[in-house]
Amino acid sequence: MPQPPFISLDEKSDAPLYRQIYELIRRSILSGGLSSGRQLPASRLLAKQLSVSRMTVVNAYEQLLAEGYLEGRVGAGTFVAAHLPEEFLQASSFKRLERQEKPLKRKVMLSEYGSKMAQKSKIILRHHCATALVPFQHGVAALDEFPFGVWARIAQKWHKSPPAPVLSYGDAVGFQPLRDAVAAHLAAARGVRCTSEQIIITNGTQQALDLIGRIFLSESEEVCLEDPGYIGALDIFMATGARIVPVPVDDEGFDVQTARKRSQRARLIYVTPSHQFPLGVTMSLTRRLSLLEWARERDAFVIEDDYNSEYRYGGRPLASLQGLDRDGRVLYVGTFSKTIFPALRLGYLVVPADLVEVFAAARALTDLHSPVIEQAVLAEFISERHFARHIRRMRGMYEERQQTLVEEARKNLRGMLQVAPAKAGMHLIGWLPDGVSDAEVSRHAAEAGLNLAPVSAYCINQKLKGGLLLGYTAYDEKYIRQGIRKLGQVLTEITQN
Ligand SMILES: Cc1ncc(COP(=O)(O)O)c(C=O)c1O
Repeated sequence: MPQPPFISLDEKSDAPLYRQIYELIRRSILSGGLSSGRQLPASRLLAKQLSVSRMTVVNAYEQLLAEGYLEGRVGAGTFVAAHLPEEFLQASSFKRLERQEKPLKRKVMLSEYGSKMAQKSKIILRHHCATALVPFQHGVAALDEFPFGVWARIAQKWHKSPPAPVLSYGDAVGFQPLRDAVAAHLAAARGVRCTSEQIIITNGTQQALDLIGRIFLSESEEVCLEDPGYIGALDIFMATGARIVPVPVDDEGFDVQTARKRSQRARLIYVTPSHQFPLGVTMSLTRRLSLLEWARERDAFVIEDDYNSEYRYGGRPLASLQGLDRDGRVLYVGTFSKTIFPALRLGYLVVPADLVEVFAAARALTDLHSPVIEQAVLAEFISERHFARHIRRMRGMYEERQQTLVEEARKNLRGMLQVAPAKAGMHLIGWLPDGVSDAEVSRHAAEAGLNLAPVSAYCINQKLKGGLLLGYTAYDEKYIRQGIRKLGQVLTEITQN
């Protein structure tokens, strides 16, 4: 009988037990403590030794099998793989895990901003670190469906014989052909009214929000944010020292009446009108107009984060808020993280013409510009129509995946989770019965190898009924069915106890 590896679990850790077991075995493999071909103890035996349920160990083993660290079949002998996935053997990816766990131990004199980072870095890392892909992680595109062949052909051309301008320092506002391609796409697909001179290419939404925060906000100025809302935005604006004014969301979106009462001095108003994050509401036309009206009265600017507007499954999408603005008050933000892949770190900001220069200066000061060859590849991918084709294909696939999710939830989770279909987005909200805590369900689901973010994690002051974010875009039908079955077991256990 093989000796169980030395594993000690930390009950107080935020990480679920299956994840701790997974990490410890993975590290033993990477450090050579568990060598190739070594047999692991049967899941039952290890579960007994660690005083955890067998499912917890099975989930950890399944994850390691799926990632190629282990071979064999759970139940018929599990072994450390003869050939480990090469990229995991690189020191850098291993170090990244270590880095996240190190708090600042020395006394270091930090700036006000640095002190905020020292307190908040854990939160930011938790929301923006790479995680293993398990159902129902939200906001993840079907990366295995991306046309990498086409992408590689275009990239190879640019890398093989790059013209001199793409190898030198580039323009702070972005590579001109990409700005042209984005402007054309936004005019056709989103009714955005702009010239390509108003487009600033950024390293994703996060950089766009950072630039806006630094350009518009001074200490203790007011920013209105949707509640519940996007943590990436909340973190950025908190870091500037601004006063955060949370504003509730109803079935027409951001509640302008309440915002008027709560904020007398709003400088910025951050909204997600196409598909409110996380609730998924589309902001009504009346609300859009009254929001613009209020911004004009207050001399405030509206940030329109249009992060996944490409995914609409019924009827024509409502045109952007920016397209309705006649007063130069909207800062429109978009990303390629949901349509291409997030690691590309490319997005865009559309600003009123008179603000282009100040944004260009701030961008140049930050990091000069985004990588130029990647921008050139993306520009060609869009202008050769591959982008539009890929989105069209994904829209069809995501709609089917959403249908599967709704049907499976109706069949298997009746009375435990209410899941209604939606006409847009990349996730649905599953509402729990009254009194059931979404944070608790999320923790138990994590033990079963599921990733279900609780709605409460996105609430600033708002107290809502328990709900879970069910991402469906990255998972095929089989994966969705399996996930729903597992979730059924978790919910049955919780609701019957
Ligand atoms: C509301 C919202 N905006 C933007 C993004 C994308 O951010 P980025 O472009 O920085 O990858 C996300 C991703 O999860 C999101 O949920």
